[in-house]
Amino acid sequence: MRIVLLGAPGAGKGTQCKYIVDRYGLLHLSSGDILRRHRAQGTDLGKKAQGYMDSGALVPDDIIIEMMIDEIGSAPNGGYVLDGFPRTVKQAADLDKAIKGKKEKIDAVLDLEVNEDVIVRRITGRRICPKCAAVYHIDNLRPRKDGICDKDGSSLVQRPDDTAEVVKTRLKNYNEQTAPLVDYYNRKNTVFNIDANGDAEKVKEHIFSKLDPLA
Ligand code: AP5
Ligand code: MG
Repeated sequence: MRIVLLGAPGAGKGTQCKYIVDRYGLLHLSSGDILRRHRAQGTDLGKKAQGYMDSGALVPDDIIIEMMIDEIGSAPNGGYVLDGFPRTVKQAADLDKAIKGKKEKIDAVLDLEVNEDVIVRRITGRRICPKCAAVYHIDNLRPRKDGICDKDGSSLVQRPDDTAEVVKTRLKNYNEQTAPLVDYYNRKNTVFNIDANGDAEKVKEHIFSKLDPLA
């Protein structure tokens, strides 16, 4: 199965991908996590991306498209779930071209819909593990020991773009550049609209009810 997950910053894409990957055995490809990995490793790509990311702007299409087509190309045949990519119509069109060349297609698009006040609370309370990218929340999803990753014991950090100020820019960019993708995919793919305001377990069950018949 090949899935695209759409949704505003903080909608819960990364959180739901974890469940999807566990249930359907797919590869999780998060463009944001891949970019953060490049930054942590100090690669040229990471250096180019960091200014855009920290200010809440999108990284230019040519950089992202090359990076993600590469990642998809090295994915095993079992399928994948794309989280945060594509994010512009140009990225979606280039993704379509690349997978069509391999006689593959996107089987489903999930659009996670969340109200803006919920988004701001989720993002400002998020903490992540800089080593394994696990996601926590200071109220909704606390680690067993305060500030420490359950999986590898690293100290949790706040993403530099997770401030109330930068969130406004990210949301604006999402509405202008990414929201039009829902129409793009509605014209050619199966799109499932998921109300993602509720707790993570409830959202997960809704997603499974849509994906189980396709698996
Ligand atoms: P990226 O890392 O993709 O950030 P994003 O899209 O802004 O999404 P987030 O990761 O912030 O949110 P999420 O939906 O994954 O939410 P999560 O599950 O963590 O991109 C970062 C930057 O990289 C971009 O701004 C851009 O600069 C660049 N970039 C990346 N891809 C690009 C592309 N394709 N083109 C150009 N530039 C690109 O959940 C959030 C919090 O809420 C967590 O704390 C979680 O515990 C909690 N939570 C989740 N679900 C629930 C729930 N149901 N109930 C309660 N709490 C919940
Ligand atoms: Mg994420």
